[in-house]
Amino acid sequence: MILVGPPGAGKGTQAARLVDKYRILHISSGDMLRAAVKEGTALGIEADLFMKAGKLVPDEVVIGMILERIAKPDCANGFMLDGFPRTRPQAEALDAAMLRAGFKIDNVVLIEVPDALLEERACGRRTDPETGTIYHLKYNPPPVEVASRLVHRKDDTVEAVTTRVQKYHSETAPIVPFYEAHGILKRVDGVGDPDVITQRITKVLGA
Ligand code: AP5
Repeated sequence: MILVGPPGAGKGTQAARLVDKYRILHISSGDMLRAAVKEGTALGIEADLFMKAGKLVPDEVVIGMILERIAKPDCANGFMLDGFPRTRPQAEALDAAMLRAGFKIDNVVLIEVPDALLEERACGRRTDPETGTIYHLKYNPPPVEVASRLVHRKDDTVEAVTTRVQKYHSETAPIVPFYEAHGILKRVDGVGDPDVITQRITKVLGA
């Protein structure tokens, strides 16, 4: 399955819950790119400039990274992509790779959140590097004992979030009709309590 949504929609928050519920492998293109930046690999050095500015990393870089990842044995029983694809060429490359491997995409869940809420959600985010837990200073405050180690992402600034939202509308939104035409797109209202949103996702996924 694939999770799609604008920056700050709650893809990472919901992915963590869905992993627990369905025991499915979670592959986040953003997390993979941030790990590459941290390790200082050639891919990470190239990606860093785009990410800091809130721009998309070039298709050829991300497509290669994800296709290599989903070809690994631990993906043979299925996986959940978060943040990929986010352009039409990425969606087409994924489709072609799935076809070659004899797999198919069962569900594409689109988490819909109005633009007006995204900046506050992204800028208030703090992540625990030890556990991967995603907090929000207002909506999901971190416990005091972890406060000193929390990470504020470099692209969670007002300027970068504005660019990311614009890129979402110009580059990523066009994949929605692509999956709608395949009959696998499920829309979920992403406003409300995260537990309620998990229930909405579970409902559209069915048994
Ligand atoms: P990526 O890491 O994928 O970021 P994103 O898509 O911008 O999404 P976010 O991680 O910001 O948000 P989210 O939807 O996961 O929300 P979260 O659950 O954390 O990509 C980062 C960058 O990498 C891109 O800009 C690009 O440069 C590059 N990149 C990645 N993939 C790429 C690709 N395929 N092609 C090209 N470039 C690529 O929640 C956000 C906050 O809101 C948290 O604080 C959370 O606690 C809070 N929150 C969550 N749900 C709720 C709720 N229901 N109510 C209130 N608060 C909530």
